[in-house]
Amino acid sequence: MSTPAHAGIAVLQMNPLSPLLEQELKSRFAVHRWFDLTDHERFLSDYAGLIQAVVTGGHIGLPNDLLERLPALKIVAINGVGYDKVDLEAARRHGVCVSRTAGVLTDDVADLAVGLVITLLRGIVTSDRFVRAGSWTSGEAPLARKVSGKRFGIVGLGNIGAAIAQRLTAFGPVAYHNRSAKPVPYAFVDSLKDLAAASDVLILAASSNAATRGMVGSEILESLGPQGYLVNVARGALIDEPALIRALYNHRIAGAALDVFVDEPQVPAALRAAPNVVLTPHIASATVETREAMARSVLANLDAFFAGEPVPGAID
Ligand code: 8YV
Repeated sequence: MSTPAHAGIAVLQMNPLSPLLEQELKSRFAVHRWFDLTDHERFLSDYAGLIQAVVTGGHIGLPNDLLERLPALKIVAINGVGYDKVDLEAARRHGVCVSRTAGVLTDDVADLAVGLVITLLRGIVTSDRFVRAGSWTSGEAPLARKVSGKRFGIVGLGNIGAAIAQRLTAFGPVAYHNRSAKPVPYAFVDSLKDLAAASDVLILAASSNAATRGMVGSEILESLGPQGYLVNVARGALIDEPALIRALYNHRIAGAALDVFVDEPQVPAALRAAPNVVLTPHIASATVETREAMARSVLANLDAFFAGEPVPGAID
């Protein structure tokens, strides 16, 4: 990777990043690691006026109160595709460009969604525990549920939702709910409640915003029903988590597989203790290959920005 010279430019890194991205950032910029600092106030009084770029995860973003305290800030480069944790309006007001790593993680997120569907319905995690516990010698593991032939409902048919749909057509009929119908070979269902009622597995792939926040609450879970499964690879905020916990404990739905949570990395104890869930720590884009592609995309955005060129991943 060639190293453009932005050496004097101060960058604030909000969270740990892949080794490649951290190394490349360090070779190009003066990097300050926000998450390693013990005294944020002291840092801000010394450096706030110097920070020109923030690099942050999609799930971390940049709080408005911090954005407002960085007067020299010019770009927020998100290492991810979701921008729900950055206030675009506030960024615009402050003349700050916001970029993301669009396109490069679609396959990984879709692959994980399918993996979670199969893991959840076929009881792969519980079967693994069964073998490890030595229980096999005293009997058979409980029967699971068949995946092929199930009806899949996808919520949000952006690039990721479409990639999930494409994969799931190998298993069964796919329908979707989206802001508007798209020219795709899947049935569009205008109401989320109707989609939930018509699905065996409801998969969330929508972005998080004011319109989608808490969209899956008790009414939708009731519609999904006691034989229905919920899979979330989008954002925790799409789900009313207490309602989901109640539905799981009361067997109002059959189970859930979740890669994202409202207050991650905090996962409610009730969710961690629920028997009918599969939980992963926001790993949808966490492969060596994709994190490398994301690193290149973040660097391309920063390099273009500081070279005064169009930023390929700029939002809007
Ligand atoms: C990552 C994501 O977990 O792309 C997103 O929006 O949430 C994930 O890819 C994260 O952004 C990595 O920093």
